[in-house]
Amino acid sequence: MGRLSGKTALVTGAARGIGRAIALRFAAEGANLVLCDLNPEDLRSVAAEAESQGVKAMSTQTDVARREEVQRMVDAGIAEFGMVHALVNNAGIFFNAPFEQTSDEQFDRMMAVNVKSVFLVSQTVIRHWLREEIKGSIVNLASIGAAIAFTDSSAYCTSKGAVASMTRCIALEYGPRGIRANSMAPGIIDTPMLPSAEDSRYWADNTIPLRRLGAPGDVADVALFLASDESRYITGEMIFVDGGWMLQ
Ligand SMILES: NC(=O)c1ccc[n+]([C@@H]2O[C@H](COP(=O)([O-])OP(=O)(O)OC[C@H]3O[C@@H](n4cnc5c(N)ncnc54)[C@H](O)[C@@H]3O)[C@@H](O)[C@H]2O)c1
Repeated sequence: MGRLSGKTALVTGAARGIGRAIALRFAAEGANLVLCDLNPEDLRSVAAEAESQGVKAMSTQTDVARREEVQRMVDAGIAEFGMVHALVNNAGIFFNAPFEQTSDEQFDRMMAVNVKSVFLVSQTVIRHWLREEIKGSIVNLASIGAAIAFTDSSAYCTSKGAVASMTRCIALEYGPRGIRANSMAPGIIDTPMLPSAEDSRYWADNTIPLRRLGAPGDVADVALFLASDESRYITGEMIFVDGGWMLQ
């Protein structure tokens, strides 16, 4: 019996990177999946890989920053599986730009994809949980950038600070209904999002106490813990998954 057997999990941004690893880890533990991404081809192959582990996986092309697309995805997931028990808000974007050169369009897109999406998907799923009296678990992707500053990353760090804050507010507001919300703060994880191989090598050799970049699976294992009943008395937390980066 898997750690998520009989449960359905919705994972956003599941076509690659950390979202893909979370989807496959959850599938290995018996969860049926509602997956979404902007990239339908890669997403379909993640869904097929998940189904080869004996679960059902629905893939939807959804822009998580758009309310009507989010509503359609959640409705389709509920129609297929009856209910959703866990939500992982993973979809996100990153860019480097000096603060004074960041454009309105760049800042707005960062906030739409990294912050408003968490609001939209969480709100839509929480309404379902309140209607059905489901004690669901939300797992959000923050970042160590929610707690410290990085040069040329002000929009990204601001967005992740907002995700950490929204997570705490949801945890406080819906704790009495048995709904939990936590965030993960990964350090540098080896995915296509990473800006520069040279910087990554430097960080691995000099900055990260465990002396390696994180793997997507390192984050997926923590997401599994937070989505499952094993974390039943933990809510409103932000868990660093950073190889010790935040120690100094
Ligand atoms: N990689 C890291 O070092 C790192 C560190 C800290 C936090 N994170 C966070 O983890 C999450 C996943 O990062 P990753 O490294 O796997 O990134 P990634 O770029 O490899 O994957 C992100 C996925 O999200 C999808 N996506 C982007 N915008 C979307 C939208 N509007 N609607 C639906 N899907 C969308 C992309 O198509 C992509 O498949 C992000 O929230 C990121 O900020 C990553």
